[in-house]
Amino acid sequence: MAEFRKAFVTGWPVNHSRSPIIHRYWLEQHGLLDSGDYVKHPCQPDELEGFVTSIGSNGFVGGNVTVPHKEAVFAFVKNPQPAAEALGAINTIWMEEGELQGTNTDGYGFLANLDDRHPNWDSADNRTKAALVLGAGGASRAVIYALLERGFSKVVIANRTLTRAQQLVERFGPRCEAMAISEVSADTCAPSLIVNTTSIGMNDGESPLDLSGFAADTIVHDIVYTPLMTPLLKQAESLGMPAIDGLGMLLHQAVLGFEKWFGVRPQVDDALRQLILDDLGETT
Ligand code: ATR
Repeated sequence: MAEFRKAFVTGWPVNHSRSPIIHRYWLEQHGLLDSGDYVKHPCQPDELEGFVTSIGSNGFVGGNVTVPHKEAVFAFVKNPQPAAEALGAINTIWMEEGELQGTNTDGYGFLANLDDRHPNWDSADNRTKAALVLGAGGASRAVIYALLERGFSKVVIANRTLTRAQQLVERFGPRCEAMAISEVSADTCAPSLIVNTTSIGMNDGESPLDLSGFAADTIVHDIVYTPLMTPLLKQAESLGMPAIDGLGMLLHQAVLGFEKWFGVRPQVDDALRQLILDDLGETT
């Protein structure tokens, strides 16, 4: 009989996580439900070290790490992969040759979702123009890192608190530029891509930016997926701009972990997307 492989999502709290739905869908799709599982494992900050340093002998083969442990878990990972080092956060851990390994898959998820939803979004022409990233938190770091990796020649980071955007320019280097979000308009910036990483727009809030005047072929992507169509994306659609929601980033960022723990690279398909939409109570 195959070895039973069990993975987790750990955080504090961790109830909100939709990762078990995603991974169990793939386990079932690949006929692995008899030999694998993926569960929520709440872990208080003072329990983190004991838990992650016993992976391999505590019934788990690895898992996802979420708030508030994404930084703290660095201390226990042998050689964090470059994506994790660049972002200062780890969201996926696994055992390899007896050592705990870790990476951050958010940047991969961001890129894979855009590749899937809007092929050619990263054309040479678009990469030469600026990408505009709204927000300067943890999610913003993953997006900036991914855009630079993909070869964008300029990334404008616009944030309510300018100093946070400036800190990211220092972190990511001369291809980045900081701006106050209140200063952003079609007159000050002509991007090929606009990405919202702020929490504005969540749960039917406001829009972080008025899109009036931006070129009609500007791709607008909101990584918020509750609601799926945020006020920003609704305005993009009304102006005829390509509008891409954030659900795919959540789904694609899970791919690499599943492959590490269960040995199969899974696909993000329409049925999986619909499963999460149903869970979110979204109608399509
Ligand atoms: P995360 O790690 O999820 O990205 P975060 O670090 O709390 O979360 O960052 C949230 C981002 O949303 C920040 O860029 C924040 O702007 P500030 O740095 O100025 O706080 C932005 N944000 C949240 N609410 C906002 C609001 N009402 N108006 C403008 N920006 C907002």
